[in-house]
Amino acid sequence: DAELLADPVDKIRAVGGTRHPSIPLPIDLFGVRRNSAGLDLQDRTVLAEVAAVVAKTPAPRTDAVPAGRGGTETSAKAAVDRAVRGFAAWSRTPLEQRAATLERLADLLEKHRGDLMAVAVQEAGKTIGDALGEVREAVDFCRYYALQARGVLAPQELPGPTGERNVLRHEGRGVWACIAPWNFPLAIFLGQVAAALVAGNAVVAKPAPQTPAIAGWAVALAHEAGVPADALVLLPGGPEEGAALIADVRVAGVAFTGSTGTARRIARGLLEDDARPLVPLIAETGGINAMIVDSTALPEQVVADVVASAFRSAGQRCSALRLLLLQEEIADRTLEMLAGAMDTLVIGDPADPATDVGPVIDQASYDRLMARRAAMAARTVHTVPVPTDGLYVPPTVIRIDAIEQLTEEWFGPVIHVATWKAGALAETVERVNAGRFGLTMGLHSRIARGAETVEALAKVGNLYVNRSMIGAIVGSQPFGGEGLSGTGPKAGGPHYLPRFAAERVTSTDT
Ligand code: SER
Repeated sequence: DAELLADPVDKIRAVGGTRHPSIPLPIDLFGVRRNSAGLDLQDRTVLAEVAAVVAKTPAPRTDAVPAGRGGTETSAKAAVDRAVRGFAAWSRTPLEQRAATLERLADLLEKHRGDLMAVAVQEAGKTIGDALGEVREAVDFCRYYALQARGVLAPQELPGPTGERNVLRHEGRGVWACIAPWNFPLAIFLGQVAAALVAGNAVVAKPAPQTPAIAGWAVALAHEAGVPADALVLLPGGPEEGAALIADVRVAGVAFTGSTGTARRIARGLLEDDARPLVPLIAETGGINAMIVDSTALPEQVVADVVASAFRSAGQRCSALRLLLLQEEIADRTLEMLAGAMDTLVIGDPADPATDVGPVIDQASYDRLMARRAAMAARTVHTVPVPTDGLYVPPTVIRIDAIEQLTEEWFGPVIHVATWKAGALAETVERVNAGRFGLTMGLHSRIARGAETVEALAKVGNLYVNRSMIGAIVGSQPFGGEGLSGTGPKAGGPHYLPRFAAERVTSTDT
């Protein structure tokens, strides 16, 4: 892997060689023409249609990644050098032109939807449905930020005393480092990049080491859409490249999505050099996300939403359910029904449209999850068999005696379950809050007062009532947490873009 990283362009081209270990066949998708908004990701007809395209295509078209545009660098220093040059021109590009560039990028993402989904399946082991969702979210980010930019980033005249004119402007801060995770290697990668670019910044974008190829596609398409090659520079690599990037004092802002531990290291790194300007860090990290279910909830809906929230995407969403909190009276019955639903899950080849749960991202993640699971074998309430020819972690439910026993985020298809006593709803929320993560929370209850209590007390960024707790929609459900789960502002929300910009006010005596 280290050798491949030494030549990122080759690595990007060689996605066939870096194919996810659980994918048996080379795949590619072409000719899928559907309006992204109209796509139902659970619709088996759509999935079958996509899979048919996969099956017909003999080899991955990874050579289709446009090369030679010069958008990639191997060292952080060279990447920042280029982005500093790129900033000079891009920061003077009018706002309208920057916004229109994002819209062209959205068009190109839609045009290349097939290629992008193929790479997402091959490289990240995404199921067909998740790969579709991935591209759709990337398109949504581009269109939403273009629309938002024209409003919130436009110069604004502010009221003041007679004889004085006050104008607020938003301008690029300089070079942003955008560091993305592997679990949304296109959507989150491009969401961060698109926001920084439209706010007038140049960007050095570092994808996760597991998913450089889809990032290569995204950057190439951004360049094709009209982002100058020096304004968006791809820096593939691992923690070493990330650390070198953060250490570069010319970096004027950091957008990071990943673990809480890494966010902390980045924050420290940004403060190390006393001579360095103070720069913003926008961090979105993990969570120990709880779903609270009371005795009035509709059992069938609870079970369906638990399955979707905990096991879809193999539990590899930061929003995913980690801790199921059942009111004592309904616990046994709910767990029995949940076990039945888990038994019907189709687990295996992500390129098969029938698959519900695909593999986890890599061997290290698989080993970690399997070891933790083994250590909790005595507490396992239910688990299901999985194929043995890939990185398939069995969906599993583990019983614990108290909320406080779960102190770590398990990034996979494993949940913990505990019970609470009637009358202890508020106390239950407070105990979840005490864990200090604050990303998502779910509530299933048909009592309005219960929902009010949880809404008033829960310290989370996204609260989901009587539904699943994954799949936030750009523009409707701005996403991101607080506490150990992140700094805000929320991605896909109205307050995101201004944080990427320098705010400048000119006051003129007229
Ligand atoms: N945005 C994703 C979701 O809502 C987070 O992982 O599921």
